[in-house]
Amino acid sequence: MKRAKITVIGAGNVGSSCAVWAAQQELGDIVLVDLPDMADKTKGKVLDLVQCGPVDRFDARIVGTADYADTADSDVVIITAGLPRKPGMSRDDLVQTNVKIVASVTEQAAKASPNAILIVVSNPLDAMVYTAWKKSGFPTHRVVGQAGCLDIARFRAFIAMELNCSVEDISALLLGGHGDDMVPLTRYTSVAGIPVTQLIPQDKLDAIIKRTKMGGGEIVKLMGTSAYYAPAAGSVKMAEAIIKDKRRIFPCAAYCDKEFGVGGYFVGTPCMLGKNGVEKVIEIELSADERKMLDSSVSHVKELVALAEKFLG
Ligand code: NAI
Ligand code: 2OP
Repeated sequence: MKRAKITVIGAGNVGSSCAVWAAQQELGDIVLVDLPDMADKTKGKVLDLVQCGPVDRFDARIVGTADYADTADSDVVIITAGLPRKPGMSRDDLVQTNVKIVASVTEQAAKASPNAILIVVSNPLDAMVYTAWKKSGFPTHRVVGQAGCLDIARFRAFIAMELNCSVEDISALLLGGHGDDMVPLTRYTSVAGIPVTQLIPQDKLDAIIKRTKMGGGEIVKLMGTSAYYAPAAGSVKMAEAIIKDKRRIFPCAAYCDKEFGVGGYFVGTPCMLGKNGVEKVIEIELSADERKMLDSSVSHVKELVALAEKFLG
């Protein structure tokens, strides 16, 4: 049977954590790519990870490289290359630098793996997915962004903390861009099937929503750089759904045109992931308030895309 091949571009905090999760789950052969002047460091990280195999009992073929020839014919490419934010920065402050990085790595990856599905992680996420789509020339269903898996993981974790219950029983939904104006939807969030609004009073839910929206910044303030374990776990879950054709439904940054009236941008929406990438974007009913919040988040995504296009020239 053919083994899946997963390329992770950017061997920093998020990328190397992706490699760890994917290796531990034996998702497939892994290629970890970084810049040529980081080649030794990348190879060292890979060797270290390979040596986890005997301890943790996984078999993994992992390559650390700066050469895109090694990435040829990957099934899934996870793009994490780019600067993370530092305290005081917003994700949007990264656009000028990261758009060039994402454009360059996408072109090289798409050339080496013309049939791959791209999972973009670099920030500002929604504009970077758009950039990867433009630069790859891939159909929209083969380009998707990771943010929603992380954002709902935060939402679910905070709800579980409040209720002192298992995170496993919490199912949540969220829409919009990966910014502080993301739209967590309590109406579509439940605990073992019970609407969360019946279990947590509104003032506490409002505080949880606020903490979810600011969840990235909370970690940057504590660590001096952005989160990586949960973002990597979310990215690998998406890769697994694609590689195993699981048809799982996650909130991801997927191309929406008529959907939600977005008009041709990548924004967070529930979508089904399977062997073709985004198998389906699922449009849901929104109240007038939810619609207003989504529209405002989408306007922000559009501004970021315009900025990215300006820097790309
Ligand atoms: P990091 O600084 O630890 O790693 C980034 C890596 O990218 C570095 O090793 C760097 O050498 C590499 N890189 C830069 N230019 C490259 C190029 N042209 N080719 C190959 N590699 C290149 O940063 P970290 O923490 O891993 O974050 C990576 C990106 O992911 C950031 O933009 C960050 O904001 C974003 N992020 C997105 C999340 C999301 O949910 N979408 C969550 C967490 C981070
Ligand atoms: C986060 O939300 C930095 O986008 C990243 O943690």
